[in-house]
Amino acid sequence: MDHLLKLLDLTTEDIIDILHLADQLKYEQKNGIKHKYLEGKTLGMIFQKASTRTRVSFEAGMYQLGGQALFLSPRDLQIGRGEPVQDTARVLSRYLDGIMIRTFEQKEVEDLAKYGSIPIINGLTDFAHPCQVLADLMTIKEYKGKLKGLKLAFIGDGNNMANSLIVGGLKMGMKVAIASPKGYEPDKEVLEFAKDNPDFMLTTDIYEAAKGADAIYTDVWSSMGMEAEVEERKKAFKEYQVNSKLMEVTNPNCLVLHCLPAHREEEITTEVFEAHADEIFEEAENRLHAQKAVLVKLLGNK
Ligand code: CP
Ligand code: NVA
Repeated sequence: MDHLLKLLDLTTEDIIDILHLADQLKYEQKNGIKHKYLEGKTLGMIFQKASTRTRVSFEAGMYQLGGQALFLSPRDLQIGRGEPVQDTARVLSRYLDGIMIRTFEQKEVEDLAKYGSIPIINGLTDFAHPCQVLADLMTIKEYKGKLKGLKLAFIGDGNNMANSLIVGGLKMGMKVAIASPKGYEPDKEVLEFAKDNPDFMLTTDIYEAAKGADAIYTDVWSSMGMEAEVEERKKAFKEYQVNSKLMEVTNPNCLVLHCLPAHREEEITTEVFEAHADEIFEEAENRLHAQKAVLVKLLGNK
């Protein structure tokens, strides 16, 4: 594994390795065991979109591993003034040990990897959010003791989260059910990957998706970059809410997960959110541990 561009590129073995290392790093951190595996290493972090969790967890994670992180805003980089990504990649590769990038197009992330010579990590694109899903899988495994055979239901937009949950869940042997309104389905490439898998289901019916679920997941109706569609989307997604009525059809002790930020009373009610706040914030914490595992795997001495 040379990069983390999207989960489609990873083998099941890669994901198992990352989750295993993430558990170890969480244990080491909680028990005050030194784990400075990236001493002297520098991660550049390019953010073309806002972030709370990704930025802070990568920055703190690099520090805890003995390295450092540079926050690179497009307002300051020449990339914001039109310097091509091919050139940025070749220059930054000469200073840094790795780059994390959050941007719009998946192609930009793939191009950084193509033209640069250091590991590239996708910190969210319109297509994928692999770091989030690694933390999600870690969290489900922590609470349920396993992943294989469990049912994961996603309610809402067929967006970056839905795309990555389908790939990550199926690669780990989970059953994955997606409920999205017509016209808001997951990406074609992901549906192509999932289509012959008997563990995959795509429906417009939220009750069908949630039935017998062991973990239920939702995300905002309008992702970053879709600000112009907010009102139209509010109408399209009105019924796509995780609420106490929907929770009645899930398995007992069903987890509720949300990548955050959450819009209460839109995709999730305050009641369900607060009843499951423990696992939702454990999930947010696990961003730190899962990403530290990715960093050690990609930037550590091989
Ligand atoms: N879940 C997530 O990626 O959060 P941020 O947008 O705050 O980084
Ligand atoms: N789908 C959301 C996820 C945020 C972490 C977005 O892209 O804005």
